This record gives sequence, C-alpha cells and structure tokens, in this order.
Amino acid sequence: MTVSLTATLDELIRDVPDYPSPGILFKDITPLLADHDAFTATVQALAEVGRDSAGTTVVDKVLGMEARGFILAAPVALALGAGFVPVRKAGKLPRETHAVSYALEYGEATLELHRDAVAPGERVLLVDDVLATGGTIAATRELVEKCGGTVAGVAVLMELAALPGREAVGALPVTALLTV
Ligand code: PRP
Repeated sequence: MTVSLTATLDELIRDVPDYPSPGILFKDITPLLADHDAFTATVQALAEVGRDSAGTTVVDKVLGMEARGFILAAPVALALGAGFVPVRKAGKLPRETHAVSYALEYGEATLELHRDAVAPGERVLLVDDVLATGGTIAATRELVEKCGGTVAGVAVLMELAALPGREAVGALPVTALLTV
C-alpha cells in the first residue's frame, strides 16, 4: 500500500467519541465512502489480497459481513471478477442456512450463510471494515468450512491494535490497510 493511501484513510476515517455508548471511539468510514477517488483506491487495495503475484484472481467468491462489510466486499468482488456472498445476521436469509454463534462483550451474536453460497472446494476472500475482537471473522470462517470451502484470505480496512483480533482468527492470513 502506498503512503498516500494510508494518509487518505487517516484523514477520511473520522473518530467519533462516545458513540454508540460512552467510552467507545467509533470509526466513521462514511467520509471515505463519499470520496470517489479514495473509495476506488481502497477497493483496489483490498482486491489485491485476492490476487497472486502475477495479478491473477485466486478466489471464487468474496464474502462480506453485514452490514458495513457489504459496502466494501461487493465492489471488491466485481474488481476481482468473483461472485459476492453476503454473510447475514440471524433470520435475514430466506433459504437453508448454516449458523454460527459467538460471544460478544455482552451477550451473543449469530451469523448465517446460505448452505449453497459457497460450493465444496471453493476458495473465498473475507472482506470487512474492521477487525476488532476477531469474532466476526472467526465465525465466518466456520460458516465457510461448514460449506466445504476454504478461506484463502482476509482483507479489512482497519485493524484495532488494542484488541487481539489476529489471535482470534488463528492461522488465517489477514491484511489490514490501516492499523489504529
Ligand atoms: C462491526 C464491524 C465488523 C465487526 C468487527 O460490525 O463492521 O463486522 O463489528 O468486530 P469483531 O472483530 O469484534 O467481530 P457490527 O456487528 O457492529 O455490525 P454493522 O456493520 O452492522 O454495524
């Protein structure tokens, strides 16, 4: 990644203190999404994770996690010439799903994937805006493996250095455009 993309991301991802609750520093990516050049450069950088050194796409599908993951993963899929698959919160997908629940700080969350969304043997790229605790990525990996697929890579816009997200996702290769 170029220095200028890092600077652009720094400038266009805005800190919002005490949102959604006191003590939380929210990272607002909407100014980045609203800037055509910056959004394009971000999508291109994330898509690189799905290519080999010769520039060939090495994944069959790109998975985005509800909701902000959708915004990034869909254009990455188009850039790679791969299919896009939404990973949704419980109860949103209409056909037969696999479901994985994981612990949150308070309570539990469940993610779902259509059983036929990833075919056995397919390689997928996971794309999301933030890697925080790693719960979302770890659960999505389980969903992909229930379908018989393999997670070939993980591309996130930013990684929160204060949290153990990388440890939580185990041996998965994670590329973050920004560490905050
Ligand atoms: C946020 C973010 C990631 C996830 C990262 O999603 O968009 O998907 O949390 O956190 P983790 O590494 O601790 O799992 P959120 O569930 O807030 O949903 P949203 O995109 O719908 O706001």
